[in-house]
Amino acid sequence: MLSKEDNELLCRVGPGTPMGDLIRQYWIPALISSELPDPDGPPLRVHLLGENLIAFRDSAGRAGLLANHCAHRGASLFFGRNEEGGLRCVYHGWKYEVAGRCMDMPNEPTESTFKDRVHLMAYPCQERAGVIWAYMGPREERPSLPDLEWISLPESHLHHSKIFRECSWVQALEGDIDSSHVSFLHSSVGRPKLEEAWQREGSRFWEYEHGDRSPRLEVVTTPYGAIYGARRNAEVDTYYWRIAQFLFPFYTMIPPIGPRAGVGTRIWVPVDDENAMYWQVSANPLRPQEESDRRRWGSGAPLAGEYLPPTSDWTGRWRLAANKSNDYFIDREAQRTESFTGIGAGVNLHDQAITESMGPIYDRTREHLGSADAMIIQARRRLIDAARELRDLGTSPPGVDDPAIYRVRPASILLPRDVSWLEGAREHLVARPGVPVSSV
Ligand code: FES
Ligand SMILES: [Fe+2]
Repeated sequence: MLSKEDNELLCRVGPGTPMGDLIRQYWIPALISSELPDPDGPPLRVHLLGENLIAFRDSAGRAGLLANHCAHRGASLFFGRNEEGGLRCVYHGWKYEVAGRCMDMPNEPTESTFKDRVHLMAYPCQERAGVIWAYMGPREERPSLPDLEWISLPESHLHHSKIFRECSWVQALEGDIDSSHVSFLHSSVGRPKLEEAWQREGSRFWEYEHGDRSPRLEVVTTPYGAIYGARRNAEVDTYYWRIAQFLFPFYTMIPPIGPRAGVGTRIWVPVDDENAMYWQVSANPLRPQEESDRRRWGSGAPLAGEYLPPTSDWTGRWRLAANKSNDYFIDREAQRTESFTGIGAGVNLHDQAITESMGPIYDRTREHLGSADAMIIQARRRLIDAARELRDLGTSPPGVDDPAIYRVRPASILLPRDVSWLEGAREHLVARPGVPVSSV
């Protein structure tokens, strides 16, 4: 459990909050590049860390992220004309380039220099690995992107999917580092469809997962955040270890399943205090992404069901048709005979339903954490401590000035019972370009 004060600190991300300031030290995934497909195309509303912003791609193809309200008298730039190197407010014609400089002020005398003194708030963007990254922090000299393995892969090897989730970013993230829920929330009753699918792929995951549903968790803090090893009984002389990471500020790695596992990450980008954007980055170091990868890892539709038609609202994109207003289409008969939840469309939707069911920000003073929650406790501690150290001492948080600490991988591995997991898995836990992920 957390004190009320710590819970607030952990979840609030608006400007000037300790956690908001911490996250603003890093580059933040704002959009998939393909969300702004064309130069001079329509601008988009983007709600990020509680701020209303307008994204657009200029004539030269550069992405920009401007304050919503025009610097003149505050009309929304969502209605702007995207033309000839900038976004023009349709109220009186003021026009801004991607960095916020006012390029044109056609309702002032031509000899006026007023426009040279007007600057609209704009966040720097860069595009890499199919992502438009925004920097919302205070530094003149920007930090580097994290050196996550997938960021250096060709775009053909990557696939990004997003799902809007109606709960705090950290509540959602905690589901990723919670190894014991997998044996329940995502399990089957009756005919084990998922199990059969995994077994066809040559994984013994379900066998071990079901053979031992109370994993022993060991957690270690690391320069990038924290790592856990979840130990389950396997053969008489071996343990099955599922090993994965939390990386500052909002990345998780998931223990791989099966021989086709990739090097993607999951990202929990705060939309505001009570909503998050779930990014699933699918990435294979050895080959381009195929349709089967997309189906498997959730380009939305196959794993979490259909999306609702997008709207132009601040939070109108990437919403699922199965949602809390319809109880995620729970099927009580299927719950009796097929799956633990009765909620179809795969693991992402199970996670979605259950983390949203906790409410937008769960009151963590009411929790009862057990030994299976050790990784969650550690990740929270790391985040809260780093936010306090930034606020009180100005200490730069982990990874901002050291992108190399992100060169890690998760693993799932069988090890002899007398071998320590960190020792036995050591070489499998570092990013190795061109080498498959270690997965049983
Ligand atoms: S409010 Fe935008 S130009 Fe006047
Ligand atoms: Fe899950």
